Amino acid sequence: VASLRGEATAGHPDALAVAVDRGRIVAVGAEGSVRQQVAASGVDPDTLDLLDVDGATLTPGLIDPHTHLLFAGSREREWELRRRGQGYLEILAAGGGILSTVERTRAATDEELLAHGRRWLSEMLGHGVTTVEAKSGYGLDTESELRLLRLTARLDQEGPVELVPTFLGAHAVPTDAAGPDAYVETVIQEQLPRVAEQGIARFCDAFCEQGVFDVDQSRRILQAGLAAGLRPRLHADQIRASGGAQLAAELRAASADHLGAIDQDGMAALGRAARDGHAVIATLLPASALVLGTERPAPARGLIEQGIPVALGTDFNPGSAPTANLPLIVSLACLTLGLTPAEALVAVTINAAFALGLEASHGSLEPGRQADLVAWQVRTHEQIPYWLGASLVRLVLKRGRVAYHDGIAKDADDVART
Ligand code: NIG
Ligand code: FE
Repeated sequence: VASLRGEATAGHPDALAVAVDRGRIVAVGAEGSVRQQVAASGVDPDTLDLLDVDGATLTPGLIDPHTHLLFAGSREREWELRRRGQGYLEILAAGGGILSTVERTRAATDEELLAHGRRWLSEMLGHGVTTVEAKSGYGLDTESELRLLRLTARLDQEGPVELVPTFLGAHAVPTDAAGPDAYVETVIQEQLPRVAEQGIARFCDAFCEQGVFDVDQSRRILQAGLAAGLRPRLHADQIRASGGAQLAAELRAASADHLGAIDQDGMAALGRAARDGHAVIATLLPASALVLGTERPAPARGLIEQGIPVALGTDFNPGSAPTANLPLIVSLACLTLGLTPAEALVAVTINAAFALGLEASHGSLEPGRQADLVAWQVRTHEQIPYWLGASLVRLVLKRGRVAYHDGIAKDADDVART
């Protein structure tokens, strides 16, 4: 985390600066030295545009490593059901929950889903988020899953927010399937090959949870995904300990997500994987613990003590996490999981980049990396989580272009011209 405190005035050799050229960071540091480095690279520093964010705090563009971006409808009625004591998995087993969103999503037009995607991506951008993982999983039949991934690719092309697509055909067993095992076969035999052949997903995910997909079913799906070129990631131990963390370690998954109910064996498995040099990122999603109420907060401090890298995501979805506000998640992680502001910011930048396999190019302010930057209207990085739920973003650069400025999201054409 780089806190560029603007005590020095821009244009002064000691002011802090980041130089960007053709979408990449070329130098970071005191302005005098940045100018020298730019000159040494053969570019006249006086020809560069100057964006003065004096007094701001700079971070890398935030990365949201776990969202269910595309869906239709909303599920506010479940709040009342849960208040009266119904459980999340009980609502799902009765054909509600995820399955009710599947029905709404299948019935929505492409234009409706795209409009929904644009609306929430634009909100994410306004919160400083420049890269977002987006799962399918509200289609649950081959054509509907392919459609969600195709629309995700379309939104990624539109920009400016970059999307990382994950295939989550194994999100729930749809009501029209002949049963759980038959549906697992459909995911493996029909959905995965088409997804892989079209090259529209980078990861394969499964909801490994008691009463949804068990460890053996999740393993078969993720192994089939691996064989088709999709890296595994996993909804693991969200509500009950189900062996998800162990499975993530066994398969060298990019991340194990939720972990509210992870047990000692699960912790040990993730700890060993980290020590053996193939860390599985623990992606914690504190909004769902807050919204579902029953879910325990993940043992974030225990994970960090075991050397397991922690990332944070919104889990944006209409059931367990109706929020697209990643800085609010940073606040929740400090307040309910015991992370320091620096740890929580690392969790939504470089560690989130690791969770998406983007650690070489994203998530850090260093020469050579993609120029995804946020200038926050606060003087210390601790104030980012401190002002709960506030809009603190002054400026966002995506690939070196101004994507958002003082409350105004640039439209895609503007961004392309900047
Ligand atoms: O990560 N747990 C599974 N999937 C989502 C919730 C999806 C939904 O309720 O629609 C989650 O919490
Ligand atoms: Fe999720």
